This record gives sequence, structure tokens and C-alpha cells, in this order.
Amino acid sequence: MATKFMIMPARRSRNFVLLLMSIQIMFGLLHSVQDWQTISEEENLEMERQLKLINKPPIKSFKTDYGDILDCIDIYKQHAFDHPLLKDHKVQMEPKNIPKWMMEGEFPRLLPNNIKCPPGSVLIKRTTKQDVIMAKKMKALGLNHPTSSRFHTTDGAASSLAFASVRYRKHNFGATTRMNVWAPSTLPGQSSMSSIWIANGPFQDLNVIEAGWAVHRLLFSDNHTRLLAYWTGDGHKTTGCYNYLCPGFVQVHREISLGLVLNQISVYNGVQHDIEIGILRDGEWWLKYFNQFIGYWPQKLFFYMYGGANNVEWGGHIFSPVKEPSPAMGSGHFPKDGLQNKSAYFKDTQIWDNVHLIYPQPDQLVASSGRPDCYEAKLTPGVAPNPMDFFYGGPGQCNL
Ligand SMILES: *[C@@H]1O[C@H](CO)[C@@H](O)[C@H](O)[C@H]1NC(C)=O
Ligand SMILES: *[C@@H]1O[C@H](CO)[C@@H](O)[C@H](O)[C@H]1NC(C)=O
Repeated sequence: MATKFMIMPARRSRNFVLLLMSIQIMFGLLHSVQDWQTISEEENLEMERQLKLINKPPIKSFKTDYGDILDCIDIYKQHAFDHPLLKDHKVQMEPKNIPKWMMEGEFPRLLPNNIKCPPGSVLIKRTTKQDVIMAKKMKALGLNHPTSSRFHTTDGAASSLAFASVRYRKHNFGATTRMNVWAPSTLPGQSSMSSIWIANGPFQDLNVIEAGWAVHRLLFSDNHTRLLAYWTGDGHKTTGCYNYLCPGFVQVHREISLGLVLNQISVYNGVQHDIEIGILRDGEWWLKYFNQFIGYWPQKLFFYMYGGANNVEWGGHIFSPVKEPSPAMGSGHFPKDGLQNKSAYFKDTQIWDNVHLIYPQPDQLVASSGRPDCYEAKLTPGVAPNPMDFFYGGPGQCNL
């Protein structure tokens, strides 16, 4: 079978290396879609066991219009605390030092009003067998950290990725943004994710926290746009995962879960629907959705981020088997073909310095794209006081 290597010319920046690293874990997923039904009974039992570990006994459950099951789990019994480093972890209910104004006001609800967990429990989207199969395949493929700039999966699966993003390579304790939400067209086995990405540490043990939205047809069988987050504490070698698939992310919210469908999609040349996303360090690394703190990744998971991080990126990245035309990114349109109401964006983007939110200055930002013929990233002056807006995306349909 032909194996595709991702060869990275030396002139490409380390940043690109970091982005590749943050997503190389996905390689193993790309070819697993076709064969995920053909599992042995033994594997099936193993999976049931894992599912039982991930999905704690619910106090109460709901089913959404999209067929997702949402569980209310005792906050102290959630899967996060199966992590050996979090055995004696003291749950934080909200950030302590983040200015209170950030938490004030209403937020646009994703779910009907009656879906709310009782006090003492948290809302967690139930992990399905398919999610576990995907995660298992990923591990089974032995996606070890590449020691060179070449990437390949152990069974020779030919798969590819591309990105278009804006980066900020200075010290930070996180960042926030407002991004419009789209439903880029993708095939089963492909994904198109748009996110904030924070990272620090050496190549081999890169610490990453990422959050945003995605149409992820490797993790989910449908093509809905969903809230997604990812982390790793060791360059994707052994720690980390999406959402709640492994212990790590501590959920505190009773009405918003990772993995929820974002059903307000922007209209090309029409009304734009935004979400606000932030990753902010306040003792722990908090995930903010509008003015709501959904939960956090404990600082203990990130050896190289005790003193903050040195990379932030905002943008899109896609995965695709090489034989297929690559999926769309963002709105599916290039920024060069029209900005407002037409392209995917990040606006009101700010850096958290542990005390304040500050606007990054134009000379601190670099837009780049791995395949500018397929996906573009563009910086443009924003509306004061916001110095810059970031636009990105493209139709894809490339052979990567
Ligand atoms: C998503 O899938 C549905 C059918 O399952 C289809 O009608 C729709 O066009 C798809 N949307 C996109 C953006 O691909
Ligand atoms: C974008 O759409 C909004 C609402 O649909 C409209 O008010 C606004 O003028 C549009 N802006 C541009 C630049 O087309």
C-alpha cells in the first residue's frame, strides 16, 4: 500500500511543525472509518468496558433532537478524576481571579430550557461506541511522536492535512476570540476544525490546549457542527484526547457540554452567527464559552505550561484521505473572494496576560497557510479598538 509521507521543507516555520504535531494524532483515524464495524467479540467487550469507565452512571439523562444523549453526572464522580494526577484534585467551581464582568449577562443557549442538571452534577455528552472505536484505533496505530519531519501511520494509510491560521508567538496565559460558525462540507472520514490553539514546550512533549467548532466526521458519524476541544500533555504520545474521551477535562457546567451541536450556522452573504471562545489560565486552564466557564484542564496536566504558553494560533485545519478531494474550511470561500458575511473569521481576538485581556498588535501576528491554493488566511484591520480581524478558509477540493 502506498504510504504518504508529510515532508516538511526546512524553510517552513517551527510553527507549522507545532500545528502538524497538534493534529498528527488524527492520521490514524483517517482510514478507520470503513472498517470500524468489523470488530471482534473480544474487542467489543473491551470497548464496553472502556465505555463503562468513561460514561459514569447518570443521575438523569436527556436526548437531544440530534440523537445525542446528555447525562447529568455527579461532579465528583466524573471521568476526569480517573486520571492518576487528579486523584486528590480539589474541584474549582469557577475561576477566582478572572474579572467578574467576563461572567456577567446572558448567553445564547444551545439546548432547550428544560435541559439542565441538578446542583452537584454536570452535563456531559455521553460517549458512544463509535467514539471509543475511533479513539482505540488511534492508539492501536501507535502514533508515536515523529522524530523527524516525516509523518506516516503504521499501516501505511495515506492521509493528509492542511491548515490556514494566524499565529502569535509571544508569552501568554491564553486567548479569547469571537468566531463565526459554519458547516463546511466534508465527506465521512474527513474533518474541518476551526479553533484557538495554545501550546508550549519542546517538540517531543508539546503541551497543547485547543478549542473551537468542527465538522468532525472521524469522531462523529454525522455532519453537524459541534463544540470541540482537545489537549495533550506530551506531544500526543500517551496523554490527551478530544472532549471527554480520556480523563483530564473537568466539567463544571450544568447546561453546556462539549460535543454539543451548534445549530446556528452563518449564512453566506447573510446573517452571521458567532460563538465566543476563550482558553484562560486562572490557576487551571479554563474553557470559556461566551460568558460561561464550562470547565477546565488542570494545570497539573501540562508540565510545560506552569509559566504560561508561548504560542497561540487561530485558524482552521482539515484532514482528508489523500485519494479524496479535501473538505471545505470555514465558510468554504477564500477571504480574497469577499470578507464580511462571506468568509470565516476571528474577531475581537485578545491575549490573556493573567491579569488583563490585551489586543495583539499587527506586528505580532503572522498569517500563514500550508496550501494557499486551497485554504487562505488573511489579516485585516478591525473595528477600533480591535486592531486586527482574521479571515480564513477555502473551498478545499484539493489533492493534498
Ligand atoms: C449533511 O448531511 C445531510 C444528510 O445527512 C445533508 O442533507 C446535508 O446537505 C449535509 N450538509 C453538509 C453541509 O454537508
Ligand atoms: C452583512 O449582513 C448584514 C445582515 O445580514 C448586513 O446588515 C450588512 O450590511 C452586511 N455587510 C456587508 C459588508 O455585506
